Amino acid sequence: MKIKAAVVREKGKVALEELELEKPRMGEVLVRILASGICHTDFSTMNLEVPTTLPIVLGHEGVGVVEEVGPGVRDLAPGDRVIMSYPSCGGCESCLQGRPYACDNSTELFFFGTYGDRDRRLTDAAGQKVGALFGQGSFADHCIIAARNAVKVDPELDMKALCSLACGVQTGAGAVLNKMKPQPGDSLVVFGCGAVGISAIMAAKLAGCSTIIGVDVVPSRMELALECGATHVINGRECPSVAQEVKSLTDGKGAHFALEASGVPALVEQMLQAVRKEGQAVLVSFVAGPVTLDVSMLFVGPCISFSGVVEGNSNPRTFIPRLVEFCKEGRLPVEKLCTFYPFGELDKAMADARSGKAIKPVLLF
Ligand SMILES: NC(=O)c1ccc[n+]([C@@H]2O[C@H](COP(=O)([O-])OP(=O)(O)OC[C@H]3O[C@@H](n4cnc5c(N)ncnc54)[C@H](O)[C@@H]3O)[C@@H](O)[C@H]2O)c1
Ligand SMILES: [Zn+2]
Ligand SMILES: [Zn+2]
Repeated sequence: MKIKAAVVREKGKVALEELELEKPRMGEVLVRILASGICHTDFSTMNLEVPTTLPIVLGHEGVGVVEEVGPGVRDLAPGDRVIMSYPSCGGCESCLQGRPYACDNSTELFFFGTYGDRDRRLTDAAGQKVGALFGQGSFADHCIIAARNAVKVDPELDMKALCSLACGVQTGAGAVLNKMKPQPGDSLVVFGCGAVGISAIMAAKLAGCSTIIGVDVVPSRMELALECGATHVINGRECPSVAQEVKSLTDGKGAHFALEASGVPALVEQMLQAVRKEGQAVLVSFVAGPVTLDVSMLFVGPCISFSGVVEGNSNPRTFIPRLVEFCKEGRLPVEKLCTFYPFGELDKAMADARSGKAIKPVLLF
């Protein structure tokens, strides 16, 4: 079938094109897209900051309606509403043990535009194969996705804002709920109040943290952090030492947990210094450059642990339905993060994401 999709053919440029999309193969479904979030990783791919293969259709936070199922798909049917999340192979040790976020094949499946059989599903007017980011490519009116990466949801739900659960919200909320697992009364500091950081703040509130500190440099984002559960905010541009300020807000000890979600290299050390003894620091951002750390001083003496987390260490088919329940109860107000744009205004939506005006731009189809 003919589809309209946003394709990257050279670094830094994306344009709408008509492409041919094939029918779903074994274990795959064809989805008519209703909405798609724009994530930082779409920009990283467009700017070739990740090892990708061009041409590629961007988009990896789609929601839509299943139109057709391929052979072997038993748990989805035409008419089902789905949230489309990140891919995993299903066959490596991590996948088989229930940790698809650590899949051996994730670099290829996330960024090369190919599916599990190493082939692409789209072709352009000149007959060249075109890839789909995250085995999805949701900046398009239709896409093919492996059924194992699609999460069925209640058809009554308003799907528009739920696309943010697919990557950004899952990453921030999962870093807190799946990795840190704070106890009620614990403290958390989040560096970077974008979609990922604010989702972590919402999750910390859900988990009963008493002190939740958001760090950013954009006043509107700091205000939203307060609205979404932060008890304190720090303007990184005005504060000489964020780590010291965090300590002064946590009885001089530092926070139990810290999350780096800004991607600013200098903030990695600030994050580690803001954690108390035996605390936990988690990095989710793709930090824009190398960082030099005195590891003995930072880790050994204070007995702190430092981990990287992909997609909130979540298993989308079990974690996303839980997040949907929190959304229904009003405890995860993801609609506060979203600004909506018609698909034709892709350039404006991307410009607003870059300028900081929109936290989670959502394209509507
Ligand atoms: N690990 C994963 O699986 C995963 C998944 C999604 C996104 N990510 C990454 O997480 C990061 C955050 O994603 P996002 O979509 O929320 O991005 P974003 O760009 O919306 O958020 C980054 C925030 O950091 C703030 N910031 C910039 N400079 C700062 C400074 N000096 N001090 C404090 N704050 C500052 C910005 O104002 C912004 O609010 C990105 O690096 C993204 O690539 C990782
Ligand atoms: Zn795997
Ligand atoms: Zn993403």
